[in-house]
Amino acid sequence: MRTLEVKDIVVHYGLVEALHGVSFKVEAGRIVALVGSNGAGKSTTLKALMGLKRLTSGSLMLDGKRIDTSHAAQRVGMGIALSPEGRRLFPRMTVWENLMVGAHTVSSAEQRGRSQELVYELFPRVKERRDQLAGSLSGGEQQMVAIGRALMSNPQILMLDEPSLGIAPKIVSEIAQVIKRLNRETGISVILVEQNARLALKMSDDAYVFEQGLVIRSGSGQELLNDAFVQKAFLGI
Ligand SMILES: Nc1ncnc2c1ncn2[C@@H]1O[C@H](COP(=O)(O)OP(=O)(O)OP(=O)(O)O)[C@@H](O)[C@H]1O
Ligand SMILES: [Mg+2]
Repeated sequence: MRTLEVKDIVVHYGLVEALHGVSFKVEAGRIVALVGSNGAGKSTTLKALMGLKRLTSGSLMLDGKRIDTSHAAQRVGMGIALSPEGRRLFPRMTVWENLMVGAHTVSSAEQRGRSQELVYELFPRVKERRDQLAGSLSGGEQQMVAIGRALMSNPQILMLDEPSLGIAPKIVSEIAQVIKRLNRETGISVILVEQNARLALKMSDDAYVFEQGLVIRSGSGQELLNDAFVQKAFLGI
């Protein structure tokens, strides 16, 4: 099991500073929500954790060891996986081929088989459609494939960027249930980025509110659901 500590990270796009010193902690086996409005820095944070954006300063510690100089592929090997914003599937490849892209760092065929079974068990619809082109699936189904692809690397920390984006409410709650079940049954930690703050806070053990590149509030999901500022800014209460 893995504990990830994000310490005071600063990230730039060119000259523009997108994260101004973000800190939070992901304890093993927890669901951690990152919420906040457009442009607050949530996706940038996940990219930095995955190794897709370089840190200007600060550090990332996995079980006490610094990982922020490792490449993305190395971090996949350490048990970190990202299902990116907008899904980013290969539309002209089959569902199964998309899943296998997520497994390309896994050398053991046995392990790949186990991950595939887990994905098919969590998302029976993905199994049914495994030979279809990914681009022919509904948005909700594509989201399931994107989460499945991330699971194919056998992660211990699964990062999901906006899994509810553009998906019918019924499918959103279905996917939310699956994420909860996955966390409960396998102990995989989840970092959940969501515009849908109510959903994310309800699902999470711990939560952080981002605003303009900073964490401005933190607490348990329940605490933040009851927080007057959060209610006014994100829950329309
Ligand atoms: N590729 C990029 N080039 C330049 N600036 C960027 C780039 N990506 C993001 N930014 C800027 O960095 C800041 C943080 O963006 P980020 O995408 O992390 O926000 P977010 O919280 O994920 O927002 P959203 O809810 O809209 O997905 C914003 O000011 C954004 O304009
Ligand atoms: Mg984003």
